[in-house]
Amino acid sequence: MTEIIFEFLNNIGFTHPVHPALTHIPMGMVMGAVVFRLVAFLPRMKMLAKTGYHCSVLALLGVAPTVFTGYLDWQYRYGGMWEFLIVLKMVLAAVLTILLLVVVIKDDPENPRLDRRTGFYLLLVLVAIGLGYSGGELQYG
Ligand code: HEM
Repeated sequence: MTEIIFEFLNNIGFTHPVHPALTHIPMGMVMGAVVFRLVAFLPRMKMLAKTGYHCSVLALLGVAPTVFTGYLDWQYRYGGMWEFLIVLKMVLAAVLTILLLVVVIKDDPENPRLDRRTGFYLLLVLVAIGLGYSGGELQYG
């Protein structure tokens, strides 16, 4: 499967890794979710908690294609070699998915408070930073 996908992409002139194009969805949406959540605590900004919540929904929808393309690049560009950074990314991707599910299912964006739910938003950013840094280490060494 991996070979067929990359052969097709190469034939249409797309020779870059596929994963980086998709990573922007969960990475960007997680950053947006947290910024909107925190700004929502400023006077007359409460409605931005909903915007932050919507960002977390799109981040969750973006996880599956991001993980799939990460797997493809791992197989094609790294020969499927098991190494610490890849295992770390798999673990962090699972943690990010669980945290996003908790936020999407449990959050109450109509009534944002500085409580555990907001704490989950902050955890999301830490995990996303871990995914981005480990990805950068793989890519740029
Ligand atoms: C939601 C989950 C994930 C996110 C948000 C994420 C994010 C990132 C980011 C930001 C980069 C650096 C891209 C760049 O600037 O060039 C990266 C690179 C990379 N990631 Fe992920 N990643 C995720 C899951 C995975 C998984 C599960 C794997 C492997 C099984 C993986 C494999 C890679 C590889 C091989 C690279 C190096 C660049 C490449 O060849 O694509 N990623 N990732």
